[in-house]
Amino acid sequence: MTKTGKGYKGIGMEGPIARWYDTNNGKAPDRYDEQVATVRRHAPKGSRILEVAPGPGYLSIALARTGDYTVTGLDISETFVAIAQGKALEAGVPVDFRHGNASDMPFADGAFDFLICCAAFKNFADPAGALREMRRVLRDGGSGLIVDLRRDVSKEAVEQDVARMGMGVLSRAFTTFALRRFLPRRAYTKAGFEALVSKAGFGSYEVRQTPMALEVELRK
Ligand SMILES: C[S@@+](CC[C@H](N)C(=O)[O-])C[C@H]1O[C@@H](n2cnc3c(N)ncnc32)[C@H](O)[C@@H]1O
Repeated sequence: MTKTGKGYKGIGMEGPIARWYDTNNGKAPDRYDEQVATVRRHAPKGSRILEVAPGPGYLSIALARTGDYTVTGLDISETFVAIAQGKALEAGVPVDFRHGNASDMPFADGAFDFLICCAAFKNFADPAGALREMRRVLRDGGSGLIVDLRRDVSKEAVEQDVARMGMGVLSRAFTTFALRRFLPRRAYTKAGFEALVSKAGFGSYEVRQTPMALEVELRK
């Protein structure tokens, strides 16, 4: 397990980068409604949910708002943890946003019934360690969902996705460039993810593809 090191690939998301990401993602609330609906299909009422790498915390807060779940978030960016804690306070919902590394989680074995990790896995410096930790913190029979950019994403899929985000011209150009040029280099193909997850010791897993993403369903 990587207990030292920065934990992520590239420059990380602190300070102005985190604030820029927060501003732009706040303009696409539909995205989080869809994610809540997805979690509802997987996690029954009363589930203890962990969001790995929640960033500004929109999904975790939306899940807590339902009143059906106990929600915890774990992110390596101190700026994002502070932003997310502030938003939860403002929304008046209880989410336990913690600072920490996906490959060295500060949680007991079996602490969660369900976990979700969106748009983040490709950034982890120790992906095998993160999967090992995800398995450890899930209870027996618990399940998880990882959703992240696919390495072989098409230009058309990126353009459609970015158009939905409702961003200004500059942010749109930068986001398109990032999703087309440098982020896919970190991302996984279906076969690449299957090779990784097959070694993580889950009882079962399935890797599906959408035009933008890989959706990885895990069961302990
Ligand atoms: C692109 S953001 C995605 C945020 C959010 N899940 C979303 O869908 O908007 C990637 C997130 O991964 C986090 N991250 C990167 N490496 C991490 C690690 N090793 N452990 C925990 N979080 C990490 C970053 O700080 C950032 O919040």
